[in-house]
Amino acid sequence: MADRVYIFDTTLRDGEQSPGISLGVREKLEIAEQLQRLGVDIIEAGFPAASPGDFDAVRRIAGRIKDSVVCALARAMPDDIDRAWEAISDAARPRIHTFISTSDIHLEYQLKKSREEVLRMAGEAVARARGYCPDVEFSPMDATRSDPEYLYRVLEAAIEQGAGVLNIPDTVGYAIPAEFAELIGGIFDNVKGIEDVIVSVHCHNDLGLAVANSLAALEQGARQVECTVNGLGERAGNASLEEIVMTIKVRKDRLALDTGINSQEISRTSRLVSLLTGYPVQPNKAIVGRNAFAHESGIHQNGVLKERTTYEIMNVSDVGLVESDIVLGKHSGRHAFSEQLERLGFYLEEEELNRAFGRFKELADKKSSLSGGDIEAIALEYLRTEGQEWKLAGYEVHSGGKEAPPSATISLEREDERVTERAIGDGMVDAACKAIRTALDIDAKLISFTVEAITGGLDALGDVTIQLDVKGRRVVGRGVSTDIVEASARAYLNAINKIIR
Ligand code: KIV
Ligand code: ZN
Repeated sequence: MADRVYIFDTTLRDGEQSPGISLGVREKLEIAEQLQRLGVDIIEAGFPAASPGDFDAVRRIAGRIKDSVVCALARAMPDDIDRAWEAISDAARPRIHTFISTSDIHLEYQLKKSREEVLRMAGEAVARARGYCPDVEFSPMDATRSDPEYLYRVLEAAIEQGAGVLNIPDTVGYAIPAEFAELIGGIFDNVKGIEDVIVSVHCHNDLGLAVANSLAALEQGARQVECTVNGLGERAGNASLEEIVMTIKVRKDRLALDTGINSQEISRTSRLVSLLTGYPVQPNKAIVGRNAFAHESGIHQNGVLKERTTYEIMNVSDVGLVESDIVLGKHSGRHAFSEQLERLGFYLEEEELNRAFGRFKELADKKSSLSGGDIEAIALEYLRTEGQEWKLAGYEVHSGGKEAPPSATISLEREDERVTERAIGDGMVDAACKAIRTALDIDAKLISFTVEAITGGLDALGDVTIQLDVKGRRVVGRGVSTDIVEASARAYLNAINKIIR
């Protein structure tokens, strides 16, 4: 029988540490709900001691999620652990995850502590966490660059104090698969009490080896993998959830492993995370990229037409990539709209639904029919902009001509305040962004700008992603509309609102 691997998702914690990502509480809740639907075993909801916003998001997720374990991260410090517990104490299945570095390089330059001090802190942190919660995970940060003999001692201390999961991070993505397998094998051979705990791995992708390293560890007996949707995370990201899960599924013959993931939810989860974080998925990304199931060469197309398995190792429907037949138009009512949202997996409160329906009507007036993809984009835009301080209240643009340069007049609103600003620019998009910048008196530098069509046709919804740098801080904003200038203004404002938040 296949052995069960626990999927620990850290999209909302390590994933949110990707440059430019800044999710609001409502967006985090929606992602957490989708992760639960996907069937992840553990959701790392955040790092409560990091900020009041993080604390609040973790607390709200803990109150909402019933099936998955909800985990909060804490440094091996009493205040962090107390704060983590405060945030998750209402969860149906809470877990505290505490960590401290064990490599000499981190001890000397970052912590400025001796090995003995860190050993003591690790044990004390686990003991404090266990005083609150029966489910405690411990991570020796930068494990792959730590002295293995010292690492074994720290892990033994964590087990003695009651940690049930020992997570081995390749924090800087330095390991290569055979070497990482050796480290995990060494832990199984040398750490007293290891047979009573779950060994987990957390691999970063700096050398593009995060998934390969995680799989090498599973072959050695690790039974929890920490990963993120679309491989988001610090720097080059973490091991990608969809790649781990589908490798385990497709190569069950060799690995003899299983997960509790409902793989048909993978595509939707990937889209949701991409649209809410503003991080597009590269077209050739394994499993969830636009081209992951596209055959270009004639030989491949011919083979697939004769027998799908000649060139396809997975069925597209296994990852939930199926065409939706939903079509709504301007005559569709609130009820039909709400039904389709539910079919797509969105559950909006009455008041939220009314507002999202207003936006649907605006777009349906401009576009003859709205597909499932369009409706999903409307719901996601609603979630992205919900709670943002400034809203786009009106706009007018002129493309200019020989005599007059392109210009834009933008009106923004928050509560009882309304500001209107006119600007000229190199083009209408530039003018609209300048008007927003001037109206809110924010000095932002444009780093990147991309436009994609959500569905086909000349009246397709345009999906604009903008990355800004504001005083050294990167933020990503996204906006949709049938009009590219309006979509750009919405994306720009979305990014600026994140900075304000
Ligand atoms: O990469 C890392 O070491 C981490 C730990 C907090 C597990 O994210
Ligand atoms: Zn990490």
